[in-house]
Amino acid sequence: MRDHFKVTPDKHLSLHNVDLFELSRSEDTPLFVFDEDCLVKNLATIFDAFKSLYPNVIVSYSIKTNDNLAICNIMKENNAYAEVASELDLYIAEKLGIPGEHIIFDGIFKPDKFIRKALERRISIINAESFTELERINKIANNMGITQSVGLRINSWKPKIFINNLNPNNLNETINCNPSSRFGFSINDAKSVFKRREKYKNLRIEGLMIHPYHSAIETFASLISEAQSLGIEIKYLNVGGGFDSGFVLHVNYLDLILDLIKQKIGFKSKMDERSGKALDIGIAAKHITGKVKELGLKSMPTIVVEPGTYIVGSAGLLLVKVDHVKVSGGYKWVVVDGGKNILPATSVLARQRVIVVNKMNWDNFENVNIIGPNLFKDDVLALNKHLPTIEEGDVLAIFDCGAYAMTNSTQFLYPRPAAVMINSKMEIKKIRERENCANVIYKDII
Ligand SMILES: Cc1ncc(COP(=O)(O)O)c(C=O)c1O
Repeated sequence: MRDHFKVTPDKHLSLHNVDLFELSRSEDTPLFVFDEDCLVKNLATIFDAFKSLYPNVIVSYSIKTNDNLAICNIMKENNAYAEVASELDLYIAEKLGIPGEHIIFDGIFKPDKFIRKALERRISIINAESFTELERINKIANNMGITQSVGLRINSWKPKIFINNLNPNNLNETINCNPSSRFGFSINDAKSVFKRREKYKNLRIEGLMIHPYHSAIETFASLISEAQSLGIEIKYLNVGGGFDSGFVLHVNYLDLILDLIKQKIGFKSKMDERSGKALDIGIAAKHITGKVKELGLKSMPTIVVEPGTYIVGSAGLLLVKVDHVKVSGGYKWVVVDGGKNILPATSVLARQRVIVVNKMNWDNFENVNIIGPNLFKDDVLALNKHLPTIEEGDVLAIFDCGAYAMTNSTQFLYPRPAAVMINSKMEIKKIRERENCANVIYKDII
C-alpha cells in the first residue's frame, strides 16, 4: 500500500491517485479503505516465497482475519485455499463457491453440527485439536459411510525462561496459566494417536499442523519418524499463520515511559519513526522449507501456510474524522469518530502509524493523544503522537488496520462503518455498506 500513496497539490494524501480527504467527504467516516493491488501482491509474495524454494505449497487464506466477501473473493480468484474456523467462515467460503477440496478446517471449537456440514462439503482436511474431536469426526464419518482426512494440531508450548516472565506482556502467562497450551495435542498425545489409529477407522491421519509458524516446526521431526515407523504417511505439514508484515511497532509500558521521560528532558521522540521488526518472508520461507527438506522424506509432503495478517493487515487503513480537540489535564485530546469499537486490536502498545490526510507536508507539529468516541477508559488510539496541528474536521488515516478490525469490530454505541477498495485503475468499489441504527437492532424483539 505504501508504494501507492502520493500527495496531491492540495497537500492531501492519495491512494492510487484517489484523494483520501475527498473520499472521506463523499463516503463519510469512519471508513475502511483497502488497496486491491496490495492484497493481490501480498498474496503473490507469500506464495512465490515458498514456491520458489519448494514444489508443493498451499496458501490458505485465514478467513477470520477479514471475512469481507470481496476480499475473500480476491483470495479465491488468486488461487488461495480458505482456512475456516467456524460455521460463519464455512458459510462465507460456500457463498463464494470455494470447493470443499480447497477448504481447510481449523479451530478448537467444532461441534457435531459443524463437523457434519464440513464432511458433507467434502472439505480437504480437518486439523483436530483433541481426542474428543477425533472421536466425533470418526463417528460422524462412520455414520456417513466415508473416510475423512485429518491432521493433528501440535502444541509446542514450552515454559518460558524466568527472565521472560518479568516482561509485563507475559503477566497473564506468569500468574494464571499457559494460555497457548490449550491448543492441539502435546507431542506425546500425538504419538499415542498414531499408535491408537486403528480405533479411528473412518479417519486418514495425513497431516501435522502448528500455529503460529515460529512455534517450532522442528517439533514435526520426531513425530514424522514415529509416524513412519508405524506406516503412517504424513502428506501435509501445515505451519499456520503468524507472518506479521512488521509495520506495527509493538512496545511495552516501559518503552512508553522511557520515551515520555526523554521528551520531558527535551529530546525528540523517535518512537513514531520506527516501525516493527519487518518480517522478511523469504527468510521465513527458507527456514520452513529448509526444515522440511531436512526431514529427508522420500515423498515430499505439501507445505501448507495459513496467512491472514500478512495479506490483509497492511492492505487496509481506517479514515476517522476529528470531531473536536480538547485541552485537559495539560494534554491535548483529539476526539475522533471511531475508536476501539472498530479497532479493538489497536492499543497504546501497538503504535499504528497515523497520518493527517489533509495536512501532508505540514510545517507546524504538536504532540497529541487520539481518543475514540466510546465511554471506556482505554478507548485510546494513540498516546503522545507527533502530528500536524489538528483542528476539527481534519481526517486521520490509521494505517495497517486490515486484519482483525472489520471482523472483531463491535456495535458498541455505534453502527459499524463502511468499507471501500481502491485499485490502480482508480476504481473505488464499495465492499461493505455503512450500517445504520435500524441494522443494529433488527433482530431485537420487544
Ligand atoms: C489456526 C490459525 N491459522 C491461521 C491464523 C492466521 O494468523 P495470522 O493472522 O497471524 O496470519 C490464525 C490466527 O489466529 C489461526 O489461529
